[in-house]
Amino acid sequence: MELELKNVELRPGDKLKVKGVILDNAERFQIDLGSHADELALHFNPRFHDDADGTVLVCNSKSGGCWGDEKRETENPLQKGIDVKFMLKMNEDEFEVELPDGQEVHFPNRVGMDTISYIRIKGDIKLTSFKFC
Ligand code: GAL
Repeated sequence: MELELKNVELRPGDKLKVKGVILDNAERFQIDLGSHADELALHFNPRFHDDADGTVLVCNSKSGGCWGDEKRETENPLQKGIDVKFMLKMNEDEFEVELPDGQEVHFPNRVGMDTISYIRIKGDIKLTSFKFC
């Protein structure tokens, strides 16, 4: 699936709740927050068959169409075929992603974006709910 939202206005303190079902044969999916497809403050990318790490949560940023340095979390509670709920929170200096089991992934707002105006959810997940909170 792919969901792309433009002209969004997400600021520090704002949250996003995303619910879905990971596909049985999932390879990967991503939740991107930024100002454009080429300007991402957060690329949150769970992978299930990564060459290096197998099941891993990859985070990165993208500036001018170029990826930054990846941050990888190999403790990944996500599994293919399960129902999931993510809470994403934008803070002043970082993004916080709360996983279904309460684990949190933190990623710095290293591109210094003060407003998120673009959101994309894409890949091997069926979206069942999407909410600004
Ligand atoms: C690349 C991949 C991109 C993105 C990026 C994150 O290898 O092709 O889709 O996930 O890693 O660093």
